[in-house]
Amino acid sequence: MSSRRKFLEKSLGGAIGLTFAPLLMHGVPPAAPDGPIVLSTWNNKKANQAAWSAVESGKSALDVVEIGVKTVEADPKDMSVGYGGRPDRDGNVTLDASIMNAEGDCGSVCFLQDIKHPIAVARKVMETTPHVMLAGEGAQQFALENGFEAENLLTPEAESAWKNWQKEAKYKPIINIENHDTIGMLAMDKNGDLSGACTTSGLAFKMHGRVGDSPIIGAGLFVDNEVGGAVATGMGEAIVKVCGSFLVVELMRQGRTAEEACKAAVERVVKKQKGHKDFQVCFLALRKDGTYGGYALHKGFMYVVSTQAVPTVMDSLHYLKS
Ligand code: GLY
Repeated sequence: MSSRRKFLEKSLGGAIGLTFAPLLMHGVPPAAPDGPIVLSTWNNKKANQAAWSAVESGKSALDVVEIGVKTVEADPKDMSVGYGGRPDRDGNVTLDASIMNAEGDCGSVCFLQDIKHPIAVARKVMETTPHVMLAGEGAQQFALENGFEAENLLTPEAESAWKNWQKEAKYKPIINIENHDTIGMLAMDKNGDLSGACTTSGLAFKMHGRVGDSPIIGAGLFVDNEVGGAVATGMGEAIVKVCGSFLVVELMRQGRTAEEACKAAVERVVKKQKGHKDFQVCFLALRKDGTYGGYALHKGFMYVVSTQAVPTVMDSLHYLKS
């Protein structure tokens, strides 16, 4: 048994006054790798591959998640994150991102415009300021002062999608499309330390100034290096209302498996939010012992797991059966 596993059994078992329960993942316990692991939301295999190369070169979990999600921020074909993201209803691409390390430090930016890598700005906020979050013009000014370049992030494809939307200008997110928004990534490095990152352009055609869950620590992302980490994707407002990622980590602290904790967070959304059939919410979690799991409200959520160079795409279980 790895020392990491022993440590977790001791700390979690102590917290609930029980020996550690067997880990069950819809029938099949996930094999906990006795080494590093990278998870990310949806189907961004390239992000995991970049992250895994960083793991192999011995980088910290914090570097790993930043490197991983940056590949998606830079990809104009991904219309839900960074450059190429769908704009708000006034045609502005506005970005949200957060990052959290093994020491419990965190940084975030929200409503940031014209900067391709909000995750790097979030990290800079964490590492060089006394603050956690910078917003809007202040975040942009901070980025420019720190050597980030201003650039137009609205691609012709995203502009055309916006013009098309304007014909009716109805705000009705399409489950798993306009909500298929965020990359959240969790990593455990060779030392067994955890970090997480989350970055998005948010809901397509949102109100100008709208900020979702992704830059809010505890909502879109939470990491506790003694217990585990969680990230969220889907309708940000629904995730904020239940402090989703914090909830998942606290449930794992009480002894739930990653999948059980994600499921319980989805059930909380269902219980508290009447309109839940009209939006998607998904959680992905990694425990300190290397076990992991995800759960979604609707069908269609998947996540990518790396414990070696070739990543595996996993389908998540979901709450609503139709
Ligand atoms: N989950 C991302 C957002 O709602 O903005």
